[in-house]
Order: sequence, then C-alpha cells, then structure tokens
Amino acid sequence: SSIMVLNGPNLNLLGTREPETYGHETLADVETMCRDAAKTLGYDIDFHQSNHEGVLIDLIHEAGRRIKEGVLLGVVFNPGAYTHTSIALHDAIKGADVSVIEVHISNVHARESFRHHSYISSVATGVVVGMGVQGYVLGIQGLVHKLKN
Ligand code: DQA
Repeated sequence: SSIMVLNGPNLNLLGTREPETYGHETLADVETMCRDAAKTLGYDIDFHQSNHEGVLIDLIHEAGRRIKEGVLLGVVFNPGAYTHTSIALHDAIKGADVSVIEVHISNVHARESFRHHSYISSVATGVVVGMGVQGYVLGIQGLVHKLKN
C-alpha cells in the first residue's frame, strides 16, 4: 500500500527559494527522505507537486478513490500558499473523505498574519508545522501511527 505526498505551488523551487525560511534541501531531496521513511514502515510513496489548484484537487479526488480501494493510506500535503486561500481544497478533502496530514516547512504562526489561518487544518487528521523538511517524515510517521495503531 502507498502514501501520497502532495506539494502545492512554488515547492518545485525548494532549495533555491528563500533558503533562510525553507532550507537548502530540494524537492528531490524531500522525495528521497519520504521514500526512505515510508519504506521503513512498509509503504510506497506516490510523490506529486503542482502549481495548479485544479490539478491538486484532481489528485485529492484520486487519493479518495484509492483509499476506498484499500491501496492508499492517506495524503501528506503541503498546500503552499493555497493553505491560506483555498476553500476548493478544503471541500475536496472533505468531499472525497481523504485522511490528510498537513505539513508546513516553516512555522507559519511566527510569520505574516496572512499565513496564520489555514483552510486545510479543519479537515486535516493532523498538522506538522515549523519542523523544516523533516516535517514530511514526521507527517508520514504520524499518518501511519494514527491510522494503523
Ligand atoms: C509553506 C507556508 C506557506 O505559507 C507558503 O505559502 C508556502 C510554504 C511551508 O511549507 O512553510 O508556500 O506551506
């Protein structure tokens, strides 16, 4: 069975984008970390990034279908700036009944006030904030612990 790791807008720039805030690891590094962490727990990783809200919505719907088929456990999701704007992603997670662990590399609560509200948190199973890219690994571990133990 697998875990989907989903990344929203601008996360393809990880490593070069505001490294003082997001660190020096690239998204390819994050993918490797996720695959290693999941393998230890007996899962495969289905890794995606998109800058397009509609593509992310389609992937959440696909995750919902795969969860029902029993081939996917849930989604570790960094929605990027759509966190703070997207009622559509909120509705997709709720509507497709997808277990989501929301991940933010930076501590959004210690940053600008427009990053303090999340449309995703109220439909998330858990939230990991401010732990750097290690947050993805913690999200994977948290998803498995919450859903399998
Ligand atoms: C982010 C935080 C968001 O506020 C920002 O728009 C991002 C990245 C994070 O991982 O810290 O793109 O989700």
